[in-house]
Amino acid sequence: MEILPASLRDLAGLRRLEQACFPRDAWPLLDLIAVLSWPDVVRLKAIADGQMVGFIAGDLNPAEPIAWIATLGVLPEYQRRGIGRALLQACESRLTGKRIRLCVRPSNQAAIQMYLQAGYLAVDTWPHYYKDGEDALVMEKVHPAGL
Ligand SMILES: CC(C)(COP(=O)(O)OP(=O)(O)OC[C@H]1O[C@@H](n2cnc3c(N)ncnc32)[C@H](O)[C@@H]1OP(=O)(O)O)[C@@H](O)C(=O)NCCC(=O)NCCS
Repeated sequence: MEILPASLRDLAGLRRLEQACFPRDAWPLLDLIAVLSWPDVVRLKAIADGQMVGFIAGDLNPAEPIAWIATLGVLPEYQRRGIGRALLQACESRLTGKRIRLCVRPSNQAAIQMYLQAGYLAVDTWPHYYKDGEDALVMEKVHPAGL
């Protein structure tokens, strides 16, 4: 498994990954194009067996004290092999800001376990954040590099 920068050339792979990872929350095509092309975004893909098997994006805004991880997914058949954790660490190391935040469904115990293990703590709840009405749990970690 390799972690590499992602670009617009990865649009088809990212679309497949989104649909497999987020049956309820897959981003529309325009959002996928944006995340692969906008400036100030850390975008990394995990490649295994010649295909994109994981993706993470984080907002890189040096003026902001808090950096946000926007999305993280690993294809179901490649989960539980350390790829999510590796993508998270690689993205964190490229983000600036004193703290890193992300949103997760409270029902998503797999992701919550991964974030807890990586040092994130729940700091807020946004009621009815997701389309189906589920709240979002906001989790935060002090930036490992303390920037
Ligand atoms: C969440 C997700 C990215 C994890 O990716 P992954 O590659 O499977 O995670 P890893 O193998 O690196 O696991 C890291 C840790 O997370 C936790 N974890 C991962 N999957 C888990 C599961 N199904 N049940 C419980 N804990 C789990 C474990 O603590 C694991 O460490 P361990 O294997 O040493 O016990 C992946 O399950 C996924 O893409 N899910 C669908 C999309 C999603 O929910 N994204 C997050 C949105 S906020």
